[in-house]
Amino acid sequence: MGRVAPERVRAAETVPVTLRGRAASPAPRRVRPGPAAGPMPLGGPLVDSFGRVHSDLRISVTDRCNLRCVYCMPEEGMTFLPGAELLGFEEIVRFARVARGLGVTSVRITGGEPLVRRGVVDLVGELASVGFEDLALTTNGTSLGRFAEDLAAAGLRRVNVSCDSLRPDRYSEIRRRGELVRVLESMDAAVSAGLVPVKVNVVLVAGVNDDEILDFAELARATGRIVRFIEYMPLDADGSWRRELVVTADEVLGRIAGRWPLEAVTGGPDDRAPASRFRFSDGHGEIGVVASVSRPFCGTCNRLRLTAEGSIRNCLFSDDELSVRHLLRTEGREEEIEIALRRAVWGKRAGHGMDEPDFLRPARSMSMIGG
Ligand code: GTP
Ligand code: 5AD
Ligand code: SF4
Repeated sequence: MGRVAPERVRAAETVPVTLRGRAASPAPRRVRPGPAAGPMPLGGPLVDSFGRVHSDLRISVTDRCNLRCVYCMPEEGMTFLPGAELLGFEEIVRFARVARGLGVTSVRITGGEPLVRRGVVDLVGELASVGFEDLALTTNGTSLGRFAEDLAAAGLRRVNVSCDSLRPDRYSEIRRRGELVRVLESMDAAVSAGLVPVKVNVVLVAGVNDDEILDFAELARATGRIVRFIEYMPLDADGSWRRELVVTADEVLGRIAGRWPLEAVTGGPDDRAPASRFRFSDGHGEIGVVASVSRPFCGTCNRLRLTAEGSIRNCLFSDDELSVRHLLRTEGREEEIEIALRRAVWGKRAGHGMDEPDFLRPARSMSMIGG
């Protein structure tokens, strides 16, 4: 790890398609990022002190995973939550109902690896009955083949599947466990089950898998799967992240557009999503880039998270969690849950602050936060 190719800078400078086409959305400006003073509204949608309305909830159902990806978990020695500390399905659904009542329209189930949680198909069914516009799941794909039909029947709409290399040996090195072939098969199973569009998440690490950018672009062109290239974020458990290991979205777009012309896709319902979308100008497929490091999209963020043990987390990069587990464990405390949700969102900072001199990476790594 750690090589920084000199041509990287040149490629980004000379190609026509870059993220400059999308209005960058830096954090709303204040002297220092942090919650504003002022009264928190007790009605209306879930709004933060910068006016960002929150409608997207990510629910982590476990911090466990059957893989140990280098950019996420340590190879050995991870400690997991005891089962009794995990929210039960009834508790998760109780939270989801309150969130729905406050204007949350899309839910994504995450982990760790959500499919290692026993009974997750039943949870999908219960969440589907709450009536969200979008209900999706992010998975490492190792056991999706087994679950795809049942998940679709339970009401799941679509899946995003992580896959960081198309070379079997390298795949196993990056993920430290698991087999590429099963993940590729599971994507086919997801398509057959109607869990579409299938999006493929590729976390790029410089010198590790950035020589596969064009191979992944070809996969998108050949299969219609939407491949998203994700900038490596400082959320790995090993603490190995360094800025030189980040392959920027502009570089990715430069390399791909140098081979196949691209056009930005804008104006859809996804405009507030982390991924910026691009279609191939010849009509063969679509890719996306998630530029959390080089072009933060905090200014339009509409996300909040429920961790596996029942805390509301308003940003991937903020450790200010608000536990609601005690409220979820008893019936009839919906109003208190609502206030807690409003308070958690109201207290959201302007941005992740990665470029601030006093930036501290979060205490918890990705699998513990929940993607
Ligand atoms: P779609 O709804 O299909 O666009 O999914 P998504 O991209 O929102 O979710 P997914 O779980 O596939 O995540 C893709 C990448 O975006 C992962 O690396 C996530 O960690 C990252 N991501 C998700 N939410 C946030 C966020 O709020 N902030 C940042 N910086 N990254 C995020
Ligand atoms: N940086 C960027 N993305 C990450 N993911 C896990 N760890 C990191 C990281 N350090 C991605 C996974 C999965 C999603 C939930 O988050 O690949 O697609
Ligand atoms: Fe597991 Fe996902 Fe973390 Fe990889 S990135 S170790 S698949 S939780």
